Amino acid sequence: KTIPTGFPKGFLWGGATAANQVEGAWNVDGKGLTTAEVVKRAADRQKLTMNAVTQESLQAAIADQTETLYPKRRGVDFYHHYKEDIALFAEMGFKAYRLSIAWARIFPKGDEATPNEAGLKFYDDVFAECHKYGIEPVVTISHYEMPLGLTLKQNGWASRATIANFTRYTEVLFKRYKGIVKYWLTFNEINASTWGFMGTGAVDSDLDAAAQTQLRYQALHHEFVASALAVQQCHQIDPAAKIGCMLARMQTYPNTPNPADVRAAQLQDQLNLFFTDVQVRGEYPEYMNRYFADNGVTLQLAPDDEAILKAGKVDYLSFSYYMSTVTSADDNIEKASGNLNMGGKNPYLKASDWGWQIDPVGLRLSLNEFWDRYRVPLFIVENGLGAADQLTADGKVHDEYRIDYLRLHIEQMKEAIKDGVDLMGYTTWGPIDLISASTSEMSKRYGFIYVDQDDDGQGSLKRIRKDSFDWYKKVIASNGEDL
Ligand code: BG6
Repeated sequence: KTIPTGFPKGFLWGGATAANQVEGAWNVDGKGLTTAEVVKRAADRQKLTMNAVTQESLQAAIADQTETLYPKRRGVDFYHHYKEDIALFAEMGFKAYRLSIAWARIFPKGDEATPNEAGLKFYDDVFAECHKYGIEPVVTISHYEMPLGLTLKQNGWASRATIANFTRYTEVLFKRYKGIVKYWLTFNEINASTWGFMGTGAVDSDLDAAAQTQLRYQALHHEFVASALAVQQCHQIDPAAKIGCMLARMQTYPNTPNPADVRAAQLQDQLNLFFTDVQVRGEYPEYMNRYFADNGVTLQLAPDDEAILKAGKVDYLSFSYYMSTVTSADDNIEKASGNLNMGGKNPYLKASDWGWQIDPVGLRLSLNEFWDRYRVPLFIVENGLGAADQLTADGKVHDEYRIDYLRLHIEQMKEAIKDGVDLMGYTTWGPIDLISASTSEMSKRYGFIYVDQDDDGQGSLKRIRKDSFDWYKKVIASNGEDL
């Protein structure tokens, strides 16, 4: 067999955003309040606050009808700028644009009998705008948000009842966008459900650690079932469409060659791959039985759940990749920051301004591991560098550090393709600056396009091409050859 020489024809180059981080327009055209819009911005840069929601903070957020403390309510006003933004994506030559639908635009409280037409219409328009330029929409059904109504009514995914609400929502989407959306993803970074509110929409900060763990794995189980049902629905309603899962990949290494560290890293890796094991293979892996027993977790399964998981295997595996960590048998090693917040520091790696350890080779390792384990097409739907970009006096942003980061990762993707991995696409995170998921800062920027807005929401919202804009355009035009 011949070894591939580069990126395949039709490779889906593009960028990825999430409704709650770009759209704004949080209370217009019938949209309901979402779980993402009741989390205050982080006072401390590196503190993850998405999960620190209490009944009290929730009530205060509902009473506060302003955007000041809740930047995800304003996003970067994509709702009113989508034509301009998609035109800029098209200028870079995007083949794909990953975006999410705000569930609360379609079902404002989550449990209405009929969907909100204005919400559906908005996405009709967005998809039409993408197609105008030959850009394929890749749509996340739930990206770190759900209608707050479902939290208030039944504590989000902690309740089995949420499965039916979700299934109703997905049925509406698949019917409405049949033949329009070819690529779907169910839950963004489904492993976030084991971290708390941002994944589960369930308030659990008043519970002790054991009860929290129990609640989160049960909520996750409901999401697995809901996702598998959505896969079946999608196949039935629009057989030409493909539907995938989405994992926050955490590549990890043993801290030392000490077998105890190697075993700790193996378990850590299993705890990351468990989600895709369920969604790609259609069943819980055995090692989780041991983990659940060790951690006092007892899952409540309905009689059909196992059959549903089996019948709802995804068509492809998508994932985000930003960084790697090290794992040790010793809890006291120095910790790194990051989107999972659990790993140790690696002396061989440099880190971003926010302390996320940069590791392009880790991406090649992950791609090979996924391919060996699952043999389904892979899609990198997030990768990128959050940096404190500065607008210079001449109105430019010289972000060569972002170009370096992306170049090194794309080189490793190419290596993985030569290794034999089936990689279908690459959408960088935040092609346009947006509100950070973890801290709600505006100043943590990922884009090729700068947005004139600060952490307090001040600014003209003007869109400005950064140096990386022209670079990415060249990368796409050369199908990844000119880096
Ligand atoms: C991923 C999320 O975890 O990382 C995105 O899917 C998020 O929503 C991205 O924005 C980067 O994280 P952050 O916290 O820098 O915005």
